[in-house]
Amino acid sequence: MARSFVRETDFTADEIRQVISQCADMKQGRTQPTPLAGKSAALIFTKESLRTRLSFEVGVSELGGAPIYVTDAEIKLGQRESVADAARVLSRYVGLIMIRTFEQEDVEELAQYASVPVVNGLTDLLHPCQILGDYFTIVEHKPGQDRYSICYLGDGNNIVNSWLNLATLLPLDLRIGTDDDCHPDPALLKAAQASAHSQVLVTSDPKEAVAGADVVYTDVWASMGQKHLAEEKEQKLRRFQLNSSLLAEADRSALVMHCLPAERGKEITDEVMDGPQSVVFDQAENRLHIQKAIMLFLLEHS
Ligand code: CP
Ligand code: NVA
Repeated sequence: MARSFVRETDFTADEIRQVISQCADMKQGRTQPTPLAGKSAALIFTKESLRTRLSFEVGVSELGGAPIYVTDAEIKLGQRESVADAARVLSRYVGLIMIRTFEQEDVEELAQYASVPVVNGLTDLLHPCQILGDYFTIVEHKPGQDRYSICYLGDGNNIVNSWLNLATLLPLDLRIGTDDDCHPDPALLKAAQASAHSQVLVTSDPKEAVAGADVVYTDVWASMGQKHLAEEKEQKLRRFQLNSSLLAEADRSALVMHCLPAERGKEITDEVMDGPQSVVFDQAENRLHIQKAIMLFLLEHS
């Protein structure tokens, strides 16, 4: 079976370090491999996207391949035919599949039946390419630390679930500031809290979450597919807005991070997003480099 990346724990800690190192080499132009030369890659989207679509299209091209963008309007995954049959058919045409969709189970099933690597481009549960790219961005800006303290403020969504998964692999001090009704996935939280090398705190006190952190990260209060809950989430989460007075509670050199798209004035204010501590556009750029390194790793190990 081909190697896939549908959740962070598909890689070992050592493999993540290899991917991070390869990412740095590719970003600095020290190596430009073309493992997709002569092949195509299917990029399947059942949700909207700017960064993921563009960074995968560019990344596949730079790896020598031809990207094929397809939406669920055509393939109707799991409706027109089973996910397993779609996986078998796609594997006859392309050298790699990237999928962004709602259900994590659909991505796992696609990977189970595909004979080519499958990459998770975001589900309701996880956003693994984002979190690996974000970890790379942190290492780039704060090199040489073997442990990072990361404060996440806001909704317990796919981004924080992915941080929890990463905490089972790499040493992190993760402080999650959120409302009692907006906690992350309970099973992933439990696994991260059981990890010997990481510390995970969930608190409803935003100042406790931020205190002394190396990184302060936020994301939209209502994710794709949950926009009907926007008002309810806003009421519960507005205390966790990343603004300059809350940022002042963090380390003075703390990085400000957001996976984007941002709803400026809600989870993050303009002065923080455009301020000197913000690395949000580096994060967006690094999606390209990390995904190239992830695809290369999977193709080399399949
Ligand atoms: N961060 C991110 O995945 O952005 P898109 O939704 O635009 O792809
Ligand atoms: N949590 C957000 C992330 C977008 C990249 C969402 O799922 O909409």
